[in-house]
Amino acid sequence: MRAVGGVAVARTVAALRTQVREWRAQGLGVAFVPTMGALHDGHLSLVRAGLERADRVVASVFVNPAQFGPGEDFSRYPRQEEADAALLAGAGCHLLFAPGVAEMYPPGFATTVTVGGVSEGLCGALRPGHFAGVATVVAKLLLQCLPDIALFGEKDYQQLQVIRRLVRDLDIPVGVVGVPTVREADGLALSSRNRYLSAEERRIAPALHRVLREVAAGLGRGEPALDLCRRAAEDLLAAGFLSVDYVEARDAETLSAAGKLEGRPLRILAAARLGGARLIDNIGVEP
Ligand code: PAJ
Repeated sequence: MRAVGGVAVARTVAALRTQVREWRAQGLGVAFVPTMGALHDGHLSLVRAGLERADRVVASVFVNPAQFGPGEDFSRYPRQEEADAALLAGAGCHLLFAPGVAEMYPPGFATTVTVGGVSEGLCGALRPGHFAGVATVVAKLLLQCLPDIALFGEKDYQQLQVIRRLVRDLDIPVGVVGVPTVREADGLALSSRNRYLSAEERRIAPALHRVLREVAAGLGRGEPALDLCRRAAEDLLAAGFLSVDYVEARDAETLSAAGKLEGRPLRILAAARLGGARLIDNIGVEP
């Protein structure tokens, strides 16, 4: 296997499986971190969490065309394999799986995995087909690698719940581990899309995390979610966001609508546009 930036790279499912099989034969546990590249410390925190729980960590970099809608940023999504490989090597990752589109979606490919319930609403309502694209590629990646565990960020909370449901429903024999969001000092969640922000927009961006914290504080005081979320959306527009896709409080597990904080953990989730970027964030609130 050729190495790039100090880490071994597998380009095919066969090469990936050969390496994982070898590790298994040696009795080593394997963790898997799927990504679309343009790596930052949020991604690397998943690699570090994998190293704490397993002997070997595999990361994948694949910009998955199936999860981008028409008019979304598929073609301009940053691709920087050498830099990503060097970051992965520095974090202690043992193998990079970087398949091409033809390896993942060969001619004749005709299967889509759709997850009901948790995929509906929030980002699912605004990005039709997005979570089917995610569920399909994640099902493939997990079955290709067959790790003991796979790690996903809470940054994409709805995606994490979709993947938990997918793995449970299809009996995929992989443990799903959620990892807390890594943030800049001012609260902005690290994201590959932050690079689309101008200096002025970067200054405005932390308002997203700030309003989520304000909603959480209000829920803690027993105030109704609807009023708090409406006020949060107004605050985002006042701060300079172009538009707000949603600010909503949901049940942390099922993502069903929640009116107040009573008995069960909630998750407050938001998506909003700032310049040419669409930013998402979320935080948890315990009863
Ligand atoms: P991507 O956006 O590259 O994210 C890869 C993983 O990194 C996801 O699990 C995401 O939640 C996590 N992540 C991103 N920013 C983070 C942060 N600030 N803190 C902690 N974790 C963070 O999500 C995807 O790719 C794709 O949809 C994928 C699952 C790979 C399927 O194509």
